[in-house]
Formats: sequence, C-alpha cells, structure tokens
Amino acid sequence: VAPSRGLLGDFANVDASDSADLVGRLDVMHSLEFFKRYKAETFRLMGAGPGRHLADVGCGTGDDAAALAHIVGADGSVVGFDSSDAMLDEARRRHGDRAGHLCFTRALAEALGVADSVFDGLRTDRVYVHLPDPAAAVREAVRVVKPGGRIVVSEPDMASFWCTASDADAGREFAQGIAESLDNAAVARDLFHLLRDGGLVDVQLHVWPLVLTDPAPAERVINFQAIGETLIAQGRLDEQQVRGWLGDMRSRVENDRFLGGLNFFIVVGEKPA
Ligand SMILES: C[S@@+](CC[C@H](N)C(=O)[O-])C[C@H]1O[C@@H](n2cnc3c(N)ncnc32)[C@H](O)[C@@H]1O
Repeated sequence: VAPSRGLLGDFANVDASDSADLVGRLDVMHSLEFFKRYKAETFRLMGAGPGRHLADVGCGTGDDAAALAHIVGADGSVVGFDSSDAMLDEARRRHGDRAGHLCFTRALAEALGVADSVFDGLRTDRVYVHLPDPAAAVREAVRVVKPGGRIVVSEPDMASFWCTASDADAGREFAQGIAESLDNAAVARDLFHLLRDGGLVDVQLHVWPLVLTDPAPAERVINFQAIGETLIAQGRLDEQQVRGWLGDMRSRVENDRFLGGLNFFIVVGEKPA
C-alpha cells in the first residue's frame, strides 16, 4: 500500500488516504463548468439514453452514475464500480443503492466480476491515470460491453499542465512535479491506441483544453504546496524558489495576470458486432 502523500496519486488507493479530502477534491472538479460539459459529452458518446444498461467504472462519489441513471430512466440501469469502500459509501449515502436501477459495486477496473456482454455502454473518467496496467482495464471493459456497445475513456493529460510563471525554471519543475504526482500521468496520450489495440472499431479522439483564469480549483485538486515540498525534498528546487513560484501565482491572480490549463483526452470506440 503506497503511503498517502496529499498528492493526486492518492486516488490510486483512496482507502489508505484521507478519503474525505479526496471526496472534497472531486466535488471541486464537479463544480467547474468545464467538467460538467466534458462529462455530458462522455454521456453522449457512450450512447446514454432511455432504457440503456450502463457502467461507470471508477465511479467515485457516484454523481455521474446518478446523472446517467436519470438519463436511462426506469427501464434502464446503471452500475457504478469502484475499488474504494470509502468512495462507495459516499456514493450510496448521496444516491442510494437500488439493484436493477442504480447500484454501486466494489470491483477493480481490471476485474469487474460480471458476466460477458452485459452493458450497452461503459465509461471511465479520470481512473486510468492511476492504473499500472491500463490495457488490462480496456480488455475488461471490452469483455463486459455488448457487441455494438461503446466504451468512453476520459483522462487529463497531466504532462500538458501549463501556467504563467515569472520563474521559467521553477515553472518547468512544478509542471514536471505535477506530472510525477500520479502513477500514469501520460496515459491520455496512449488511450487512442489502447482502445484500438483492444479490438474496438471507429475509435475517435477528442482533445478538450481546460483554461483557468483562477488557479484556486487547481490548487485544491493538485495541491501545489505538496508538489513544492516534494521538489524541495528531491533537491530540485529550494524553499525560496518554491515560495517564489507560489507567491508569483498569487500576485498574478491579484493583478489579473494568471492563466493556466491542461488538456483532457476523451477517447471513444465501439465493440464490433
Ligand atoms: C479521480 S477519481 C474519479 C472518480 C469519478 N470517475 C469522477 O469523475 O469523479 C478516481 C476513482 O477511481 C477509483 N479507482 C482507483 N483505482 C481503481 C481501480 N483499479 N479500479 C476501480 N476504481 C479505481 C478511485 O477509488 C476513485 O474513486
């Protein structure tokens, strides 16, 4: 079990980390207009509609599974899978648990524990960045989706993080530190070929740029302070450089001189009939 570091990598093992803090970070993300829009796009791409039977793998607090349950209506069903008991408890507390319509199940993305070809569509949002073997999760997704069903995987391309910074060297180290704060930060760039190699057809890639004029949500989610402490511990920056980078960001906000962002990759493919 990897120790909790207060970094994004903690999502790989929520139950060994501060789960309430991680739930709070998910809520910050869900509150952003950008997240609402790209999530709605993943629902559309997976073919969500009345009467469909859908899966949300790595469902977290279950908010997306609940939104999907609303879309599929009384004749459809949604199963939210997650590896974390704490996340599943939160999902059930927020949305209930009703087998046959909306339910939450403990399972790994790599071994969902259901029969072959049971879902009309499956989505996974911001989970593969935490997986050591994403190809295994793709194989499992392909196994459980019906022929003709669609699989949608969306991931932030963590290595694409950028922001305005007066100290370019410190900025580069921070960007690198952010990419290293997750196990599989560059997986977004592999998704297209992972889905094609998994046997899916009509695979499409959509890149969505997130642009922020206020770093507060990113600061809460990524934990720049913890990134800075890691860079100091690794001898890559000294305390003054870290303080300088954080202070520069704050003064840019005060002077309306901050911009930053990150690309999100959404990949969709269809299981051949
Ligand atoms: C960043 S959160 C995203 C949650 C949700 N998809 C969302 O959009 O809010 C990652 C989720 O994946 C779960 N997770 C991590 N590794 C997993 C695995 N191997 N199998 C299933 N779920 C996993 C975590 O417990 C966490 O709930």
